[in-house]
Amino acid sequence: MTMKSDIGVLGMGTMGGMLALNLAEKGHETAIFNRTAEKAHRLVADNPALAARLHPEDSLEGFVARLKTPRIVLVMVNAGAPVDEQIAHLMPLLDAGDIIIDGGNADFNDTVRRSRSAEGTGINFVGMGVSGGEQGARHGPSIMVGGAKEVWQRLQPILEPIAAQHEGEPCVAWLGPDGAGHFVKTIHNGIEYADMQMIAEIYGLLRDGAKLDAPAMASIFADWNTRGLSSYLIEITATVLAETDEATGKPLVDMIIDEAGQKGTGRWSVIEAQKLGIGATTLEAAVSARGISSRRDERIAASDIYGTLSLDTGSAVPADAAGIADLESALETAKIIAYAQGYAVLAAASAEYGWKLPLRDIARIWRAGCIIRSVFLDDIARVYEAGDGIVNLLQAPSFSERVTAGQAALRRVVSRAVLAGLPVPALAAALSYFDDYRRARGTANLVQGQRDFFGAHTYRRFDQGGSHHHVWPVI
Ligand code: 6PG
Repeated sequence: MTMKSDIGVLGMGTMGGMLALNLAEKGHETAIFNRTAEKAHRLVADNPALAARLHPEDSLEGFVARLKTPRIVLVMVNAGAPVDEQIAHLMPLLDAGDIIIDGGNADFNDTVRRSRSAEGTGINFVGMGVSGGEQGARHGPSIMVGGAKEVWQRLQPILEPIAAQHEGEPCVAWLGPDGAGHFVKTIHNGIEYADMQMIAEIYGLLRDGAKLDAPAMASIFADWNTRGLSSYLIEITATVLAETDEATGKPLVDMIIDEAGQKGTGRWSVIEAQKLGIGATTLEAAVSARGISSRRDERIAASDIYGTLSLDTGSAVPADAAGIADLESALETAKIIAYAQGYAVLAAASAEYGWKLPLRDIARIWRAGCIIRSVFLDDIARVYEAGDGIVNLLQAPSFSERVTAGQAALRRVVSRAVLAGLPVPALAAALSYFDDYRRARGTANLVQGQRDFFGAHTYRRFDQGGSHHHVWPVI
């Protein structure tokens, strides 16, 4: 009799294939299926050490029949319509109690819709965010699970061994019902965009301000990776900057076209932040910067029109140790502000959708495996250890002390960059958010006056209760 599999992975793209290998390596009998069956067979042939626990099937029916009941199917296809297609193919072959997991980068709104349409069929739908890229999927990603809690209890023994481990704790957690897992993954990606953009802005200041070459910058980032900024993204930045292009002998980074791609999750994080009324301005700046980067021809034309504007870019970074230390401190401070924004979106979504997101666990499972992993996430986890009552990370004493100490450097870096005409949209957005956030008396009173003037939208007064409308002079 054929041995039944613990789980089936549908879709042998990069992430699907790597997760299947990871599952097999951790002792799970794993059925695998791909529309082009040859791809599944090739995965087995290329990984002979794991072949005994990888079971390729040539038909969807055969794949489903291969699974232990109640069945667990992990769908790893491109986000969007392909997920709906696979669910439609799978549904008639499954029974009540079976579980379909979407492990792609889904829009959480789709996950909520899919969960609702599975309700009543008895088939459980799980939206699961997976972070860590190819290597993470293969050796231990960070996994953000949404769906019914009872279903998580069944998945836990399968997912915990394949997740990244941080000091013995698996980086996987159940985060809430339906779309919670994919929502958290989306915000993870918004923060990922912000982190990457702020690093790129600092790189721009070092390159165009301090006029350093790539190997020199690689050393600076490698040094920063030994302290507070220590993280995967700083580490890979140092590695990318140190790489030489074989064809030309020049730094590879100088041969790469300055147009950034994007698949949509960063943009979704900002759209969701706006829907919730949360200003995630650093994340927004990062997404917008990718958009501007991709309009290269237009930028070149604009640079022809404006030239250098006779600005002295050399004044952007004082070429001494203090100048470099300012950049480090500015990046660390802006990073705290960006994460505070991302966490504020999570907290707002949790309240809006009734998810009760475990903010502490989110920091814990981001400490290893995922793209934004860093020592800094340990600090965030510690803040939430004390309870989920923190309204914003900027109000947590451990962070307010750091921001108080680092804000002067962030101001120097941003203002010098602005005067020198070097763009720092994400760093500047972080600073502006901070200044707006810490101001007890804002300027929205004037906006309210304007709104009442042209639309009788009313305003509230400091000295009286209720809503008021003023009869303004006619102009
Ligand atoms: C991760 C990443 C990953 C994402 C890529 C590409 O957490 O492993 O976020 O899921 O798909 O980084 O994203 P962009 O193409 O949008 O940059």
